[in-house]
Amino acid sequence: MYYDSKVIDIRNSVASSLVVQSIDVNAIFIDRIVSRMFAKCSVLDIGTGNGFVLSEVLKVYIEPCQLFGVDKSFDMVKLAKNNLGEAAIISEADNSYLPFGDETFDIVTAKNVTRFSSSEVFRVLKSGGYFIFREYGAGKGLLELANIFKERLLRSRSYDFYTKSLADSGFSVVSVETFEVVRRYRDVECVINIVQSFPFIENYSYSDEICIRELFGDDEVSITSDPFIIIARKFTEGG
Ligand SMILES: C[S@@+](CC[C@H](N)C(=O)[O-])C[C@H]1O[C@@H](n2cnc3c(N)ncnc32)[C@H](O)[C@@H]1O
Repeated sequence: MYYDSKVIDIRNSVASSLVVQSIDVNAIFIDRIVSRMFAKCSVLDIGTGNGFVLSEVLKVYIEPCQLFGVDKSFDMVKLAKNNLGEAAIISEADNSYLPFGDETFDIVTAKNVTRFSSSEVFRVLKSGGYFIFREYGAGKGLLELANIFKERLLRSRSYDFYTKSLADSGFSVVSVETFEVVRRYRDVECVINIVQSFPFIENYSYSDEICIRELFGDDEVSITSDPFIIIARKFTEGG
């Protein structure tokens, strides 16, 4: 899926129709990043989208630091540049071929990106550096729907898929935090918008939409998300 201005509009409308959520996992994620930052440290956010992670970091981290972001979508890069201005350097790049030298960053972050290469992140991190990322769980943020469309879920992965790939690339996994977040949305239209705004169900069709409408009815909709936060560290001999 290409992230363009249409997807951006859908994501904005979904965010504004969220009535309440039981845990603010984003706030916890940002805290995990900021608590490992230090003066003049360098941070790279991969699959940065509109620059959300870097923008949130800047709200709480006041020491000087060097912030970088990459995304392979031209539209997202433009948006992130607009949102962050001179506070960060944003480039168009693929997470699998990061345009940076070995051992460049103190911290690499990723939020809901799903497509990245652990070995490429390992390469650009300094020894002792952290990779801190938040991902969708196996239910991809919509557990009730994931249970119904089990056979057709796209890239449904639990945290052990990532911990294995991290270990294979040389990382030490520091922590895995799993969450179950209940979100309440204004109505079923919001859920349909979410389903259409990211790769979730293979060959999604109008009959699937009818099935979702029947499941939730006309009232406010409660839906469960199963995200996790993983912190991994690069240690090298002599580093
Ligand atoms: C669900 S959005 C998350 C954006 C942002 N991290 C956030 O949480 O607001 C996923 C982003 O990853 C980007 N992306 C997907 N695959 C990528 C890849 N191989 N290399 C770089 N960016 C990628 C998409 O263009 C999109 O902006």
